[in-house]
Amino acid sequence: MIQRIPTPEKMKEIVSALKCERRSIGLVPTMGYFHEGHLSLMRRSSAENDATIVSLFVNPTQFGANEDLEKYPRDLDRDTKLAEEAGADYLFTPTNEMMYPEGYKTYVKVVDWSGFLCGVSRPIHFRGVTTVCCKLFNICMPDRAYFGLKDAQQYLIIDKMVRDLNMNVEIIPMQTVREADGLAMSSRNVYLTDEERKAAPLIQKGLTKALKMYENGETDAKKVKAAISDTIAESQLFKLDYLEAVSKETLCPVEGILPGTLIAVAAYLGKARLIDNIIL
Ligand code: PAF
Repeated sequence: MIQRIPTPEKMKEIVSALKCERRSIGLVPTMGYFHEGHLSLMRRSSAENDATIVSLFVNPTQFGANEDLEKYPRDLDRDTKLAEEAGADYLFTPTNEMMYPEGYKTYVKVVDWSGFLCGVSRPIHFRGVTTVCCKLFNICMPDRAYFGLKDAQQYLIIDKMVRDLNMNVEIIPMQTVREADGLAMSSRNVYLTDEERKAAPLIQKGLTKALKMYENGETDAKKVKAAISDTIAESQLFKLDYLEAVSKETLCPVEGILPGTLIAVAAYLGKARLIDNIIL
């Protein structure tokens, strides 16, 4: 039976006991409103570790002033049941006041990388993500932590933070889980109207075209990006935020595509901002 752990103090007590018993810990950091993507991370953690902690915290420091912090979908009872079915042992649900008490002053930032791609339109986002993940790693002391590759930049930044700061956790990326029509699963997909939902898979359609072009020998990033933006433009509902081909090692734009190049897209569709990517 899954246990809901409401405070960092209680979570640390449980972690200390697990460590004394030399049991391995897997952590799945989330903001809740689970879909199959989250559940696949939990199942993998449960298969690879003695204990799986799922943190559920809608982290205010990663939302900009005009973003969807208040509206972010929440359903704790449904999430508790789904996490239990996926094999999680603990659901850690701290409040904002517990994570950022009055007078809180400390932030962790991976410089440069936090300002590229999503960081252009969301300048404080990755500082919030790395800060909360650092706090979660300190509280939960996981042997492994699991992240979905839909947020490829997030995964690369967290992995970089862990390497740069010599943290004792292995960061495990997992493939994006998609709806039957190719749309990457996201808690924010609930913001889409029926008409927007029908248009949404065009992003994945564009990325698939890019993959085919690359497999057929095309390495000119400009041509590949043009094919993606033309596909997305098949619906006028999209407003492109960015479309970039970057090196996975530096997050800097590349002109020639090489194995391992990351093509990342963000586009507004009504109230939702959708992101997706492909690693070639
Ligand atoms: O990907 C998310 O849901 C969040 O950015 C994370 C990693 C849980 C940090 O709040």
